[in-house]
Amino acid sequence: MAEVRAALDRPALCGSEVEVPLLTGGRRRYVNLDYAASTPALVAVARAVEDFLPFYSSVHRGAGYKSQVSTAAYEAARERLLAFFGAREGDVAIFTRNTTDSVNLLASALPSGSSVLTFCSEHHADLLPWRRPGLKFTCLPIPGSPEEAVSALAAALSEGEPADLVAVTGASNVTGELWPLAELVEVAHRFGARVLVDAAQIAPHLPVDLGALGADYLAASGHKMYAPFGAGILIGRPDWLGRLEPFLRGGGAVDFVTRDSVQWSPLPARQEAGSPNVIGAVAMAVAAAELDRYGMDRVWAEEAELGAVVRAGLHSIPGVRVYAIWPEAEERTGVVSFNVEGHEHSLVAAALSAEYGIGVRHGCFCAHPLMLHLLSKSEQGAQELRARLAAGDHSGVPGAVRASLGLGTSTAELDYFLTAVGELARHGPRLTYELDARTGDYAPSLQPDWASELGAHMVMAGGGAD
Ligand SMILES: Cc1ncc(COP(=O)(O)O)c(C=O)c1O
Repeated sequence: MAEVRAALDRPALCGSEVEVPLLTGGRRRYVNLDYAASTPALVAVARAVEDFLPFYSSVHRGAGYKSQVSTAAYEAARERLLAFFGAREGDVAIFTRNTTDSVNLLASALPSGSSVLTFCSEHHADLLPWRRPGLKFTCLPIPGSPEEAVSALAAALSEGEPADLVAVTGASNVTGELWPLAELVEVAHRFGARVLVDAAQIAPHLPVDLGALGADYLAASGHKMYAPFGAGILIGRPDWLGRLEPFLRGGGAVDFVTRDSVQWSPLPARQEAGSPNVIGAVAMAVAAAELDRYGMDRVWAEEAELGAVVRAGLHSIPGVRVYAIWPEAEERTGVVSFNVEGHEHSLVAAALSAEYGIGVRHGCFCAHPLMLHLLSKSEQGAQELRARLAAGDHSGVPGAVRASLGLGTSTAELDYFLTAVGELARHGPRLTYELDARTGDYAPSLQPDWASELGAHMVMAGGGAD
């Protein structure tokens, strides 16, 4: 009874009833296990966007009634997100496009000569923005345990040159381990470094309180927190962000311009040049309100339990290998990566889709150094792979299959998924698939009905038109 009540109370998601064709015959309700890439929209978000659209207008630019409504909604969204993420008095929230944009924005605002430390296990969004002229970047080896992460950071900060910023993810987007953020923040601060938390994989899954954590910055994406309308956010200390010239230059970020001079606006406008994405900001704030209503503690408790179920289930299937940075770690999000012996990850993902209606992701998940580490690839193997990719051959690229869950996931779906993986591990795919060497993806050899139905959906979605 309690389970039924919880299910009724759980925030509803758009598209959760959608049925998809199976190439083995018939149709079934789509099983989405790809939340770590992008989450579906909350119904509350879709409704709020629809309600808001008649009032949609310019922000900070118009005297009209609708402009005032839009401006108020945009600024209220900022306040709501500051509260949702437990920002401190004085922290600034800047709307961006996504986490990648937020991290790049912070990288652009670091004083020249700043030194940044991170771990090689980070998502590319938290690895690549620091490799830029004017910054010194150190990528620490992937640690063998959370304790080792803390001690490696302490060693790097005490022995190396002083760092200005430590950038670290809240949870691995490949294997789900929670990083020991509080301890890492304590160590970084002891040595005078600030901390950016890449919250892309934790914002919609567990309570995140910037103030309590003591971290200095946080980056997150709306499309990963049930608000896929193109907004992201960077929250944190205003000094670096407000001191330098803006990342983007243009209208909205300036107070006054003459032929030879410009007076930049204060934050947050200074870093939000151009017309802002008010719909995206409102959508993100409504998602935060809806997550708050349900309770982030509850979201976390439910998802951690489901994550443990799917992980244990995969472990028990002969021929399935589950990856972990820290095999002993107890705290993980509902993200699990695995391979099925004898079958390429891309083939397994294609078969899960075509034969079972299950959506997962496969590949290296924008975390190449981490995947090479998990797959025990040597430096020489990595170089050979690089040469092959440069030649346009993506066939046989190492990687894994990733299943990731969220608000809409049920135990019945996970049982179905585990049965599907079990069957694939025992018999392999039932259909035949062809490899496209340019992408490394497999597609079912015969798919006339599928192709025409997919075509119909693309037309419905506005695609396919000349
Ligand atoms: C840990 C982590 N950081 C950053 C990103 C980048 O997010 P976005 O693509 O929304 O910029 C992702 C996306 O998967 C992620 O998982």
